[in-house]
Amino acid sequence: MSDIDIISNPFHDNGYRAKMNSDECRRFHESLPKYSQTPLINLDEFSKQLNLKSIQIKDESKRFGLNAFKSLGASYAMAKIIVSNVNHDQSDLEFESVMQKSDAIKKMTFATATDGNHGRAVAWCAENFGCKAIVFLPKDTSRHRVDAIESHGAKAFVTDLNYDETVEYAAKMSDENDWILIQDTSWAGYEDIPRDIMVGYQTIIHELENDDFIWPTHVVMQAGVGSFAASIFDAFSNIDRPRPKFIVVEPTGAACYFQSIKIGDGDPHSLDKLDTLMAGLCCGTPSILAWDIIKETADFFAICDDVVALDSMARLAQMSKPDQAIVSGESGAVTMGFIEKICMEKEYSEYLDLIGLNESSSVFFISTEGDTNPDLYDRIVNDQ
Ligand SMILES: Cc1ncc(COP(=O)(O)O)c(C=O)c1O
Repeated sequence: MSDIDIISNPFHDNGYRAKMNSDECRRFHESLPKYSQTPLINLDEFSKQLNLKSIQIKDESKRFGLNAFKSLGASYAMAKIIVSNVNHDQSDLEFESVMQKSDAIKKMTFATATDGNHGRAVAWCAENFGCKAIVFLPKDTSRHRVDAIESHGAKAFVTDLNYDETVEYAAKMSDENDWILIQDTSWAGYEDIPRDIMVGYQTIIHELENDDFIWPTHVVMQAGVGSFAASIFDAFSNIDRPRPKFIVVEPTGAACYFQSIKIGDGDPHSLDKLDTLMAGLCCGTPSILAWDIIKETADFFAICDDVVALDSMARLAQMSKPDQAIVSGESGAVTMGFIEKICMEKEYSEYLDLIGLNESSSVFFISTEGDTNPDLYDRIVNDQ
């Protein structure tokens, strides 16, 4: 059995127009204490080995010292909720202006469900804004993820549910307790907050303007519920340059986009069973906002077995000079693992033609997390 697969997207629309504007959000992020942009790493030597022109990886493990990109979404969405709740003038959203009504903020409680990274981001934002956070996690969540959330003063509860059920549970609890649900996925009737979260992720792409960024021919993004990949594809579509090919990568055991595209009726479909070590991507229901964007923008949908992500974690950790090693967790490393496979293994050479990958290709990845599950990371990277 192959450990990867890829299909073309029959719904791709060349005329897609970007739906989001993230200029205000970028200024907001720049106003946050300790804001700095994350590194863009160019793997020159490795790209030669793969017979590609360039490989660039944005390292989101460095985002606010939180080991993942998620704080970009939570901070912007929570700031917007805070200012609207305390009747601030919303024209100039900056950290200092949000904090002016600190007494009112103290009374607010945000709740969320998470596989770890988003929950830590919400907890960190609550700590910074001075409000409360309650975070629900699926069964089998690693102790480290819970500790990381609690280290920011939030309450964390591990449920006996899977990720999608935990989202429903957090929504129900928020309703009953008058908490503000801050969820990074959307469904009919719950769209404004997840949209702001997606706008928040676009700061990653704005930051590339400050780097020696090689405009990519291929943008390869990982998906759980899809908010992240959708926001990145939307941001690239907003720039007046030749549109790169967009590729979505999911774990084989949690491939709700791949399976929905295979069903082929144009609607998103949920999975009953989830099985992957890639905790951040272990989601069975596409976000409806993300689905609408990804359905029109993605050129290809790919799936990878866990082993592809684990091999790629080790590869990134062991990059030798002049290339730079990157600490990348299982959900962060899978996209590069996918491209490495199709470039290096004869069995997959037909995919090179399918996605148009060759010595003139420049591939862009985002390593969305560092070693957020340190036990697994150590086992994979250090116990080889
Ligand atoms: C590290 C990491 N990468 C990627 C994703 C995927 O984001 P989304 O669920 O928006 O597709 C997540 C989501 O939690 C994540 O934690």
